[in-house]
Amino acid sequence: MTDNKTEPQFPCYSEGLAGIPVAESAVSSVDGTRGYLEYRGIDIEQLAEHSSFEETAWLLLYGDLPTADELATFEDELRHHRRIKFNIRDMMKCFPESAHPMDSLQATVAALGMFYPFPKSLEGELDAKKVHQVFVNLIAKMPTLVAAHARMRHGDDPIAPRDDLSHAANFYYMLTGNEPFELTTRIMDVALVVHAEHTMNASTFSTLVVASSHADPYTAISAGIGSLSGPLHGGANEDVLNMLDEIGSVDKVESYLQGKLDRKEKIPGLGHRVYKTKDPRAVLLQKLNEELTEKMGADPTYEIAHRIEELSKETLGKKGICPNVDFYSGIVYRKLGIPTDLFTPIFAVARVAGWLAHWREQLGVGRIYRPKQIYVGKNGHSYVPMDERI
Ligand code: COA
Repeated sequence: MTDNKTEPQFPCYSEGLAGIPVAESAVSSVDGTRGYLEYRGIDIEQLAEHSSFEETAWLLLYGDLPTADELATFEDELRHHRRIKFNIRDMMKCFPESAHPMDSLQATVAALGMFYPFPKSLEGELDAKKVHQVFVNLIAKMPTLVAAHARMRHGDDPIAPRDDLSHAANFYYMLTGNEPFELTTRIMDVALVVHAEHTMNASTFSTLVVASSHADPYTAISAGIGSLSGPLHGGANEDVLNMLDEIGSVDKVESYLQGKLDRKEKIPGLGHRVYKTKDPRAVLLQKLNEELTEKMGADPTYEIAHRIEELSKETLGKKGICPNVDFYSGIVYRKLGIPTDLFTPIFAVARVAGWLAHWREQLGVGRIYRPKQIYVGKNGHSYVPMDERI
């Protein structure tokens, strides 16, 4: 780590912190020009093909691929911590039926901190076991929290997790009540792997800002979830499906796109702060869509999305505005029978691995975030008594 404790002499203001480094990190890297993403130096495409979510999470958290024993123990720990306490379930029952699942997830993850206290002071030697327990608790329980809320908001009982299923398969089972086919499990697994981490971004930064005050990790992760819930971040895949539904058929794509461009409106699922070419995760998710199409037959929603991509190449593509991770993910989830408002929670269930990897990396290393503002208000005004105010 660089020793960089002094304040820069010539601070500059950059809207949205664009281009300003906020941490040193070895978790993942992106080449936005070539459309390349690596977790701990390993190409995401290789991980999507050969790894599982559990193995990828370990890689992100600990920096190297696990040995066979490490992976088996980790998988076992995750399986045995999937259950949530009845108080949490009771708390969720009190949420409004109309509550967005991301709001429920944020609240319940924050509440976990009350059940699993983490030392407030990080002075001295950090207990690696306590840190590992946070990893296991959050990664194992978040799918259960999402699935339980998804059922309870309709008055149904949550489906208990099954210890004989993998992380991805059990999540799908708890969400839908159906035991997944092999292809479904693989698709869920790949979706979790490709969403697990993505360098510094709004939600990772939110997590780190909160953690930098030594707030407990559940509070920090709940801040990440809050950040991810916005439509400019994780929420875009919901908007993509709403748009595809609104368009309705392939022949209407051209006029719809033209209307959007004329009104200078943004098309959800296109564009990225970092990628100036097609997001590699969109490439992988598109492949999954094609596999599903082969198995289940033509899908008009996918055809509409594909047409948008083709037509927008001519206009937006030239400016580097191309499909991002959210463009094809929602279509995959819908085909698997998952409701639209659960797409972002699935993203969070995956991304918690990345947030935790950054949290661990900064534990006891970083200073509390304390950026500067550029004050543009008044100075030196006198207090005016009420009866003298005009
Ligand atoms: N549709 C149409 N035009 C778009 C666009 C989109 N999705 N995304 C960017 N543009 C245009 C902007 O209007 C701007 O045009 P201008 O040069 O004429 O002003 C130009 O491309 C540059 O865009 P900018 O807003 O500076 O990009 P950004 O890096 O700040 O924003 C996003 C990135 C992701 C916020 C933006 O592309 C967006 O809002 N996309 C849709 C939401 C989305 O999919 N979010 C998920 C991201 S993973």
